[in-house]
Amino acid sequence: MFQKQAGCSCCPLQVLIMFGINALKCTHGVRRMILLVLLTNIMLLLYCLTKPNQVKMSGSQEDTCPHSMAKILKENVTRPSQRSKPKSDECHPAVNIMFMKTHKTASSTMINILFRFGEKNNLKFAFPDGRNDFLYPSPFQCSQVKNYRPGDCFNIVCNHMRFELREVSKLLPPDAAYITILRDPVDLFESSFHYYHTAVPLTWRIPGKNKLVEFLKNPPAFYSPEAYNSFYLKNLLFFDFGLDNNVEANDPSVMRGIHFLSKHLHLVLISEYFEESLILLKHKLCWSTEDILYFKLNSRKRSSVSKLSPEFRAKALEWNGADWTLYQHFNATFWARVESFGRERMKQEVDELRRRNAEMQAICIEGGNPVEAKNIQDSRFLPWQPVGESSILGYNMKNDIDPKFRTLCEKMLTPEIQYLSDLGVSLWLTRLWGWVKDTVFTFNWN
Ligand SMILES: *[C@@H]1O[C@H](CO)[C@@H](O)[C@H](O)[C@H]1NC(C)=O
Ligand SMILES: *[C@@H]1O[C@H](CO)[C@@H](O)[C@H](O)[C@H]1NC(C)=O
Repeated sequence: MFQKQAGCSCCPLQVLIMFGINALKCTHGVRRMILLVLLTNIMLLLYCLTKPNQVKMSGSQEDTCPHSMAKILKENVTRPSQRSKPKSDECHPAVNIMFMKTHKTASSTMINILFRFGEKNNLKFAFPDGRNDFLYPSPFQCSQVKNYRPGDCFNIVCNHMRFELREVSKLLPPDAAYITILRDPVDLFESSFHYYHTAVPLTWRIPGKNKLVEFLKNPPAFYSPEAYNSFYLKNLLFFDFGLDNNVEANDPSVMRGIHFLSKHLHLVLISEYFEESLILLKHKLCWSTEDILYFKLNSRKRSSVSKLSPEFRAKALEWNGADWTLYQHFNATFWARVESFGRERMKQEVDELRRRNAEMQAICIEGGNPVEAKNIQDSRFLPWQPVGESSILGYNMKNDIDPKFRTLCEKMLTPEIQYLSDLGVSLWLTRLWGWVKDTVFTFNWN
């Protein structure tokens, strides 16, 4: 994913100068890295210059999406009674959704589900402009939404952002469902370290081949909260939710943050129990099983995943203590939901979902399994790769698909960036960055 290194609110020149100075005493590899940061920041500067100054929006009522709008939008969605599989006579499919897309949590698979649902039902997405995230890691502001004008209403917000409830809530009718997904913070940390470490300068001076383990032996030796992009390496969930990620697990602000989130999030999915999560989602939103069919997108090749020993798992857990507390809280509420839904009923629905997914897999996917990027024939299905790596897997679509499934197969297999393009989002900045990443920096970092 294209993660910009700093928001427009912080001056890229400062960063430029900082890295300019460091360049004088660095090795060849590090110099290329600096060039990368320089180029990124030049792009950032360009981007800031092409965008009109962000207007500070007041919190007044007129800015906010009125409730009447929600009712109008609902008219556009097919009633359950007209759908192929009516689920219930009383509920109407929810169309107003805020999906807080966390990093490295299977959220790319979730976003594909949301794109498909929104497209099928002519819903209005709030999209970013020129890139695939809302100026992450800057806090979310409505002005980051493409063509936003105060009072505008949307159905779905689902791109990466640093969460800011007060701003997001202006975009959506009051009945919107707020949803997110969490993952075991140890695995999330491992994944984030792998994916982003080249973009976090403080990792460049970690010695040895296994930087992750070296880091975990003594994190404070390398980490500093002020360091550039350091949030990728500590309590990334807390950071994504707009909370302070540099607190210890026993800090009172951790529980305050968790209470704030439980109050405003209507459903918290858990990626370790992805199918159960989707069943809860389906019932919460009154959707059909068709709506939640999926292929696992953006998964990583097994050989690139660092297996942590129990000792280092414990260290990673302690290091990400705030996220661990958050995860445990919502894991418990998740299972309480499953309990009240009914274990047996859940098992049946999960089996049904698995069966339907396997059916789609047999229909759509050549060879039935994900493959490495170099073996993907059609660039429409090539996933985005981290800097200097090609560890993210994708799919080949079968050639001889029954025409009635062809479009669905294509959509289920399309990665986020390409799908955003298909939905009409300009991604010039993301593409420029992708070009720099793939042409200038294709060498092995280790
Ligand atoms: C409903 O869908 C139609 C297209 O089918 C679209 O033109 C219209 O703007 C939609 N209505 C709303 C309120 O979004
Ligand atoms: C999440 O909850 C389930 C069910 O109670 C439990 O088996 C599992 O160990 C929990 N996971 C964590 C990491 O606490």
